[in-house]
Amino acid sequence: TTHAPFTNEPFLDFSISEDKQRMEEALAVIESDLGQTYNLVLGGRTIATTSQVVSTNPARPSQVIGIHAKAEAKHVDLAVASAQAAFDSWSRVPMSERADFLVLAAAHIRSHQFEFCAWLTYEVGKNWAEADADVGETIDFLEFYALEARRLDAARPPIQLPGERNRLRYVPLGVGAVIPPWNFPLAIMAGMTAASIVTGNTVVLKPSPDAPTIAAKFVALLEEIGLPAGVVNLCVGGPEFGSALVEHPQVRFIAFTGSKAVGLQIHERAAKTQPGQHFIKRTILELGGKDGIIVDADCDLDLAVEGVAVSAFGFSGQKCSACSRVIVDQSIYNVFCDRLAERVAKIESGDPAKNFYGGPVINEVAHKRVLNYLSVAETEGRILTGGNAINTPEGGYFIAPTVVADVAPNARLALEEIFGPVLAVIKSKDFDDALAIANNTEYGLTGAIYTSSREKLDRASEEFQVGNLYLNRKCTGAMVGAHPFGGFNMSGTDSKAGGPDYLLLFTQAKSIAEKV
Ligand code: NAD
Ligand code: ALA
Repeated sequence: TTHAPFTNEPFLDFSISEDKQRMEEALAVIESDLGQTYNLVLGGRTIATTSQVVSTNPARPSQVIGIHAKAEAKHVDLAVASAQAAFDSWSRVPMSERADFLVLAAAHIRSHQFEFCAWLTYEVGKNWAEADADVGETIDFLEFYALEARRLDAARPPIQLPGERNRLRYVPLGVGAVIPPWNFPLAIMAGMTAASIVTGNTVVLKPSPDAPTIAAKFVALLEEIGLPAGVVNLCVGGPEFGSALVEHPQVRFIAFTGSKAVGLQIHERAAKTQPGQHFIKRTILELGGKDGIIVDADCDLDLAVEGVAVSAFGFSGQKCSACSRVIVDQSIYNVFCDRLAERVAKIESGDPAKNFYGGPVINEVAHKRVLNYLSVAETEGRILTGGNAINTPEGGYFIAPTVVADVAPNARLALEEIFGPVLAVIKSKDFDDALAIANNTEYGLTGAIYTSSREKLDRASEEFQVGNLYLNRKCTGAMVGAHPFGGFNMSGTDSKAGGPDYLLLFTQAKSIAEKV
């Protein structure tokens, strides 16, 4: 069969009344589905547990989204055994048949696009466009990895030695642990899972306790399309289950996306050989960011103000790619600060279900953490706009979009990932200084530069040390295929999700030489 070339799923347009109406209908339909109970799914069987994870809406914390059986360390053996049992047959299913499952899953999601958006809005507080981008990226990952798997399967044979037939085949690794974050709870969760299984591995999927319902919906969909039992095993749980899973002697690889602190712990745990372990574990770790945008003296100021505002405050700054430092040339510093503060002050915050641009942060712990940074901001800089929590009758976890000027390059606000709607503005003396400040971070995920100078764009391309660099555009919203995604340094192992090398991370290559 021939397969169409990859194209990204188009975005919905909620200014069109049909899309708007369908989203409102989906929100109403899903609202009546909230609060149900979900079990662990191991080897196709559902298992209830004594303790639970209760997922709530960050915009109205009394609204329960789903009640989930909670996996604990004692469930790890069964979970891994379920994945191991399915591995024997799944690893032998031809790659193209495994790819067909991904295509089927993508089609299924596309036909329930608005419902998936609604789940994202309720469970993690995404406004409609952010929810749509998450769902669209999920479809893209599924279809892209299906095509990539077929390409890998048909890979060109190696050099042929005279008298031999030489082959190189990409074979699965074994049982994997998939540990996603809550902030792209559909796209990243499904993307890491899809890459794992299309290459013939089986997995234990441990979603974030902040977004378990979306994962449960995805796993239910996989069952509906006929994915064999045990290929994906769902275990909602916290750090206790997560650590025990990582340490299990039969877990061959860990695909993790999340914070630096947890990622480094996993890296260490996975490095320690357990009794009975017969391989070196592989880790694929995509971690945090402290992403900077350089605004040069000779840039298009309108473009820069808009790009910075959207990069910093889209989904309330809760993206690993979010701009949290803007480095502005001294000659335009004051006018840029004024214009940015004016733009950001216009952001309206409120219930994502009603499609406000500014939404809540994910939970009470995050709310406290960001509020704490706002007090740091009072001593480390000058708050231009925001700086406070926004109280709502429902007790949602809202923080006003906050811009802090005059932050020193070595201040905490300039170095630590805040993961909320707080942006530090740093003044640079000249372009060399701006590049030095931009690189003055242990992270290296995304970055951007606004300038009209070709020479400066070229220098940034060489010298700005990030995995995803954007020239004269925002630093969020990587598109599958076009912008393979992953960071340098403490931002991770640079796995480049949505890129041509990603699936290789989930395989090992077997060289076969036959005498003829
Ligand atoms: P987190 O590190 O708190 O949690 C991530 C996952 O790890 C969750 O499923 C969590 O339950 C699990 N976990 C927690 N402790 C564990 C342990 N000891 N062992 C095993 N698993 C454990 O991160 P988060 O709050 O869910 O997500 C936000 C973070 O993710 C930010 O730092 C953000 O920058 C990062 N992120 C990175 C990327 C990327 O592609 N680089 C993408 C999205 C988010
Ligand atoms: N892939 C997401 C972005 O680029 C995190 O914004």
